[in-house]
Amino acid sequence: MSLAVAFVLAGGMAAPAQTAEQAWLRYDDSRSRIIIPLKVRALGAGALEKSGVQELQRSLPSISSVGQTAREKDAFSGETIIGTVEEVRKAFPELPIPTDLEPEGYWIYWSDASVNQILIIAGADEPGVLYGVFALLRLPATGEMFNLHDHLLRSHPAFPIRWVDEWDNPDGTIERGYAGRSIFFEGGNVREDLTAVGEYARLLASVGINGCNVNNVNAAPQLIDSEHLKQVARIADAMRPWGVRVAMSVALASPQKIGGLATYDPADPAVIAWWAAKVNEIYALIPDFAGFTVKADSEGQPGPASYGRSPADAANTLAAALATHGGVVLYRAFVYNHHLDWLDPKADRARAAYDIFHPLDGAFAPNVVVQTKEGPIDFQAQEPVSPLFAGLRQTNQAMEIQVTQEYTGQQRHLVYLAPMWKWVLDFDLRADGRSTPVKEILAGKSFHRPLGGMVAVTGVGRDGWLGSPLAMANLYAFGRLAWNPNLTSEEIAAEWTRQSISNGDAAAGTVTKMLMQSWPAYVNYTGPLGMQTLTGITGSHYGPNIESSENNGWGQWHRAEPLGVGMDRSVKTGTGFAGQYPPEVAKLYEDPATTPDNLLLFFHHVPYTHRLHDGKSVIQYIYDSHYEGAAQAAELVREWATLEGSIDQPLYEQVSDRLVYQAGHAIVWRDAIVQYFLKLSGIPDEKGRAGHYPGRMEAEDARLDGYKIIDVTPWEDASGGKAVSCAEKSCTAEWTWPGLAGYYNIAVQYFDLQGGTAKFTLLLNGQPVDSWAADAALPSRRPNGDNSIRHTVRGIELKPGDLLRVEGTPDGDDPAALDYIEIAPTASFMQGWSKPITRN
Ligand code: GCU
Repeated sequence: MSLAVAFVLAGGMAAPAQTAEQAWLRYDDSRSRIIIPLKVRALGAGALEKSGVQELQRSLPSISSVGQTAREKDAFSGETIIGTVEEVRKAFPELPIPTDLEPEGYWIYWSDASVNQILIIAGADEPGVLYGVFALLRLPATGEMFNLHDHLLRSHPAFPIRWVDEWDNPDGTIERGYAGRSIFFEGGNVREDLTAVGEYARLLASVGINGCNVNNVNAAPQLIDSEHLKQVARIADAMRPWGVRVAMSVALASPQKIGGLATYDPADPAVIAWWAAKVNEIYALIPDFAGFTVKADSEGQPGPASYGRSPADAANTLAAALATHGGVVLYRAFVYNHHLDWLDPKADRARAAYDIFHPLDGAFAPNVVVQTKEGPIDFQAQEPVSPLFAGLRQTNQAMEIQVTQEYTGQQRHLVYLAPMWKWVLDFDLRADGRSTPVKEILAGKSFHRPLGGMVAVTGVGRDGWLGSPLAMANLYAFGRLAWNPNLTSEEIAAEWTRQSISNGDAAAGTVTKMLMQSWPAYVNYTGPLGMQTLTGITGSHYGPNIESSENNGWGQWHRAEPLGVGMDRSVKTGTGFAGQYPPEVAKLYEDPATTPDNLLLFFHHVPYTHRLHDGKSVIQYIYDSHYEGAAQAAELVREWATLEGSIDQPLYEQVSDRLVYQAGHAIVWRDAIVQYFLKLSGIPDEKGRAGHYPGRMEAEDARLDGYKIIDVTPWEDASGGKAVSCAEKSCTAEWTWPGLAGYYNIAVQYFDLQGGTAKFTLLLNGQPVDSWAADAALPSRRPNGDNSIRHTVRGIELKPGDLLRVEGTPDGDDPAALDYIEIAPTASFMQGWSKPITRN
């Protein structure tokens, strides 16, 4: 007798419909009602005001309701009026309309006396009107309930540039996207049906995002040929009603690749003329085109270096073409040599952006913005702030962050990134010895720059936007922080939860807590002390693969060796990177004694016995943080379980499956890193955990029938470095239970490879107790930490001498590879992860 349990994950999940309502614009929680007049009118005739009216009309019946008192009833039956400040001033000259609203800002005014119960949303301009509408609709979630007295609400964005970058390719794939195929492209062209694009723009507008770059920074040159530009114009049409302007990534070699010129030298007059004509062509089709993003001389992309020109030369050629039309160039500072010499102790990728761009400060045209990743390497789980932000004083700057979780769990792991972004935004670089937090540099305040902002690489796709419901909190948080970097990550998490999951206090509290715990947990189990994400950097960027960052030209080194670990980036003995910061910060990072623990190994190479600030050794911290991180991931499962019954059940189940998977994968990460550093350092874990796994029985030690023992690569990704793999029709591994009688949970750790759906059955004394399919969508076609996955069967009664057997049935390229089983008493092991399986 068996009970089949289907385990579904990631790609296996049904994609929710692609509408903004599926994200945070749900407006369907009866607890969130406030009093807003249902009658809606726009004073102007513009498209954005029309969208604002539509949004109010579609949402107000659900979120506004008549109150009890006569006054509330009056208010409810009044009128909601939207318009630009000029329009409002003309229609209601008696109102105290501000004269100093900043661009894209709004002013919301509620009068219940003088002018017959009107609620006014006035925008500094049309986008401001729309942002005001969304701010009003957010009120039930932000807790700032309107009372019925004269009440004002005004706000404006901190940065003019608030863009999302999509890394979509014309064939419909998305670079580093984890949510299915492109909403923009398919088969080399723009998709016919752009409904999802319009919905995406609506979602973006609701959090104040005003630009969308629609194609990969590794740009396909043909996208700016005449045929494709006409198609891209349709994308712009779909986004325009929401105030989202379209931008494009361009390959600098375009004049040669698609223009037929012999050169793409940015100083060549024919090239300059080619870009000018191309830009004119674009604006004829897309009059509000936002501009270009440029990746050049980076990771194989052609660039000005081929002609001995600088990034400023290239940027300025494009900028000159765009200037008359009001377009901008976002030139990426992600320029580095990926053929560095690993043997050279002075070589350092982290230095590249500053070394290349700092000398060019002042050389960029006024409509160029240098776009710099938040940290000096590449979206790692934890990095210091890029020193370039303080190294450009006469240059507009934008900070690039990633909503798509390339190095942070690829949406299969819950990792709410707002706390990391906040840390960067708030980081005070102390330029010239004064307060210059990154957010003020980006806002142009620190160095008096007119342009600047934030750009997020988002990777939305057709699978529920980001492929995972809770990952949407990151997209939401990006928009909110780009509008107001002074919001806290908790505030944003609560706002998002109240709109997306439930406006109940319990859900808001629980989910906010989970979101806030998730990034520290991820750092703990993947790459602590500033070692960066210890993942396969040349491959999937997903599971553990510690040595993949070493001994190659990519420069993501952490230099782990038997006596110590870390990159010496000090000025005195290392690469000198620490010296790129303004003096106060440089001084902090120069010395291991003053470097914060969480970045110690980014800046210093220290012995494993080096003591952190609380006296703990580095090696012990590596062990402890991984056990703690895995425990924190398990805790997320338990916290989510408290919401069952109080939130939407399919959502509950979907997230629950994901969190269980994450907790299992956190154990894979924990064990990989712990056993790797135990072997490398030879220093035991003071707490006796490393290398000892109570209740674990290895597949390679089992009685095998058909299964063959294999070495897993990298070795640390399998328990003991080995697993078993099946090349027969089916194979079995059998163990005798050596423990006491009782109820147990049995975790089966196996490898779910691409290219087939292997089946597994767990049998007790010959009787099947559970069977499941290896149908998750995980990276890699070889067994390793990318696809090592845990299936737990709960509440099984065992007696000494019982026979436990796992039967694996390969399918296609999936050989039903098995790592181990791990048996733990029911009461203490992963309690509450799901209902116990009862045998009948
Ligand atoms: C990362 C990422 C690449 C991307 C690059 C970039 O290295 O893995 O896919 O092209 O960043 O930002 O340009």
